[in-house]
Amino acid sequence: MLKKVLSITNNVLEEPDRAEYGDFQTNSDLANKVTLHLASKNISPEVVIEPTCGKGNFIIASLRNFKEIKNVFGVEIYKPYVWETKFNIVDFFLSNPNSNKPEISIVHCNVFDFDFKTIAKEHSTNNILVIGNPPWVTNSKLGSLNSTNLPKKTNFKNHSGLDAMTGKGNFDIAEFITLTMIETFQNMKGNLLLLVKNSVIKNIVFDQNKKSLQDFRN
Ligand SMILES: C[S@@+](CC[C@H](N)C(=O)[O-])C[C@H]1O[C@@H](n2cnc3c(N)ncnc32)[C@H](O)[C@@H]1O
Repeated sequence: MLKKVLSITNNVLEEPDRAEYGDFQTNSDLANKVTLHLASKNISPEVVIEPTCGKGNFIIASLRNFKEIKNVFGVEIYKPYVWETKFNIVDFFLSNPNSNKPEISIVHCNVFDFDFKTIAKEHSTNNILVIGNPPWVTNSKLGSLNSTNLPKKTNFKNHSGLDAMTGKGNFDIAEFITLTMIETFQNMKGNLLLLVKNSVIKNIVFDQNKKSLQDFRN
């Protein structure tokens, strides 16, 4: 009932322009299929992290399909989505009262400011899953929108001055977020599943040797 009222209110209020947030929510059907696929590969995380959780469909799908979760962390910059995720979680447990109940933290925060290192430290012996669909937007698009939705270190690929000013300096913020996740959790047991553009994953694979990143898997 509460969800119905909220969705009616959402429809009446005009949505602000969210182009700078690369906002394409993953529908619950796809999120469910993705987590079922992971479960079929015997992936059963104890800690689930959704770095830009939106309306929380990956979190709900994880709660539904992984039975050993102890902690869930979701981060989202847009407050209405933070509330929507929280209500979706309550709704899930009301409909599935016998499911495992982990500790869940949904934080209203900019992913570039959130302290993921503390999670890595506190859960260093746990099996972790980073899952989600980070924002689909590039720094040049953000420039044209006059947006500041960027990491503080925009030259994180260490390009030379000229390259940084030309095409080579262009990057997708999903690439920065994916790299941050790999760097932060690389010494832990676990898996990473993020929906990103082909170009993003190519850059990450290409840079892996340069950055001497550890394998991040079981
Ligand atoms: C592509 S959508 C995907 C949402 C969700 N992960 C999913 O799979 O449905 C990207 C999400 O990132 C959020 N976002 C964009 N910039 C952010 C930032 N700097 N910090 C945290 N969240 C951000 C957007 O509001 C949006 O909900």
